[in-house]
Amino acid sequence: MELDVTAFRSHFPALAAGEAYFDGAGGTQTPSSVAQAIFGALQAPLSNRGAGSLAARNAAWYVDDFRSAYGDLSGVPAAGIVHGRSATALTFDFSRTLARTWGSGTEIVLSQLDHDCNVRPWVIAAQRANVTVRWLELDAETGQFTAESVAAAITERTRLVAVTGASNLIGSRPDVAVLSAAAHEVGAWVWVDGVHHAAHSFVDVAALGADFYVCSPYKFFGPHCGVLIANPTLLQDVSPDKLLPSTNESPERFELGTLPYEQLAAATAAVDFIASWGEGETRRERLRSAHEAFAAHESWLLGVLDDGLADLIADGRVVNHSRAQRRTPTTLLTFTDADPAMIADELATQQLIAPAGTFYAYEPAQALGLGESGGLRVSLAPYTSVDEVERLVAAVHAAL
Ligand SMILES: Cc1ncc(COP(=O)(O)O)c(C=O)c1O
Repeated sequence: MELDVTAFRSHFPALAAGEAYFDGAGGTQTPSSVAQAIFGALQAPLSNRGAGSLAARNAAWYVDDFRSAYGDLSGVPAAGIVHGRSATALTFDFSRTLARTWGSGTEIVLSQLDHDCNVRPWVIAAQRANVTVRWLELDAETGQFTAESVAAAITERTRLVAVTGASNLIGSRPDVAVLSAAAHEVGAWVWVDGVHHAAHSFVDVAALGADFYVCSPYKFFGPHCGVLIANPTLLQDVSPDKLLPSTNESPERFELGTLPYEQLAAATAAVDFIASWGEGETRRERLRSAHEAFAAHESWLLGVLDDGLADLIADGRVVNHSRAQRRTPTTLLTFTDADPAMIADELATQQLIAPAGTFYAYEPAQALGLGESGGLRVSLAPYTSVDEVERLVAAVHAAL
């Protein structure tokens, strides 16, 4: 099924002003149906969850619907879906809880490709638990992990491997399934940061081999929150701190305090919006089909971008750091004679929104040897048009 980009764009009021947004890796624009879901949930009767009134039933319904939507998104039963304030908050919370099970002499494995969200919480937890951290090292030339570090990082002592599904800085998609298989062989759990991954993939948590998978709906047309996805049986074995009167049922026990029902309604609407661009009997099938259409569109546009910048890269004026064979349509550029922030500012004067920075990808930025201002990140979304990509290419040429 081919994506009708004009029809797709018509759902995003923010696109009408003429700005071209190349910052989807930072957060996408919002379709009307998602905004309406927040409005609708707050306008309807709403109270704390229960069965005694329409208001209470509505709240319960938003929660059930959310779990079922993210179950369909990920292929995991609804009982394995946990709402959180953000991917960062979820990772911090779980890192503290999981670290309690790490004995002395054990190890964890982190990666130099990850956003700091999937690094620092584990580093801090490891320091407190006196656990050794081993690293999957990033090879700047290939945008992939070095074979040596992959071979050496996971040992008999590994308790957890935390790795990204896709880099928000350079787009690389590591082979998570291979790492998961190695981790499971030694009895370690696998925590996958799917925040950038979920924006560009049909998510199949089982195929990734992830025990935990975290994503953020605001990267795929939803509201600003995080979602933790895990096998419900596994969640039974994880005991978080909780208030005495609050339920000890899973997944509720991981969700501290009253849930933001209107946000859950919007997070569900984002999944339904994506599914509406695909075909199939079930929502999950429609999600798969929609992602196939998005991926075909984005990979065509990425080709247009790469071709448009090829001369600047060949003559050395532009360096493209996004080199992995498997990658999302997220490209990081630096310039031999220009500061990325200046180029970003110049583009913004032409309604081309491509920010410069390192985007909290602290370890990758170090491994790539990027300076303080990082690089210009051009990330494509399903609503990006070929006209916008051509405008961007022309503007980069003019700016240099
Ligand atoms: C790959 C990746 N992981 C984690 C995060 C943090 O997500 P959140 O803002 O939900 O904490 C981001 C945010 O940009 C990201 O791109």
